[in-house]
Amino acid sequence: LNGQPFADVLVRWQKQHGRQTLPWQHTGDAYKVWLSEVMLQQTQVATVLAYYAKFLQVYPTVADLAAAPEQDVMQLWAGLGYYTRARNLHACAKQVVARFGGQFPHTVAELESLPGIGESTAGAIASLAYGVQAPILDGNVKRVFCRYYGVEGYPEQSAIKKSLWRIAAGNVPVAQPGVYNQALMDLGATCCVPRNPNCAACPLMKSCEALRKGMVGLLPTPKPK
Ligand code: ADE
Repeated sequence: LNGQPFADVLVRWQKQHGRQTLPWQHTGDAYKVWLSEVMLQQTQVATVLAYYAKFLQVYPTVADLAAAPEQDVMQLWAGLGYYTRARNLHACAKQVVARFGGQFPHTVAELESLPGIGESTAGAIASLAYGVQAPILDGNVKRVFCRYYGVEGYPEQSAIKKSLWRIAAGNVPVAQPGVYNQALMDLGATCCVPRNPNCAACPLMKSCEALRKGMVGLLPTPKPK
């Protein structure tokens, strides 16, 4: 990368080419960041947009969501699928009110102790909402790291996952960790996509290990049969 740190390149790319206008961006409201991240766990941005707006209209704060009848929450979620997410969403809102006075906690450990928040979602909330230097590692980000670092082996296998988390943790910058994490997600969603990635447009192209070895199409390694 011509001597520029990995994170700097991505932060710069994000500001020029990343997605800037998603409604949950540029908000310091952890409730809004959390709601979007949970919806985005298994649903595409385009579908999430309408549900996200509807939820915030009906439940403007985490306290409003916590106080709602479970059935109403489930009804509003209908169509998004993966209904465990909706039950966890409601349970999480109740715990944020009961345990944290209605404020989402700032640490990854406390965030992870809440229903429906795994390590990567905790890192996304902490970094995007609060500027905490926390790593993320969702499916898109795993693909970026597997290719860039030439990591071979199925990413869900525990040893591989461990090395990917180590890579993730080692790269998060002190400055603008949220912008950096958003860049990783956006790069994985728009450029370093599963099939026919647009390497020519990638800011990491010059030092991508998979590209150098002609292995872009082979990484990440598929699930063993
Ligand atoms: N997928 C998961 N989190 C996301 C985010 N913050 N922006 C876009 N896509 C995402």
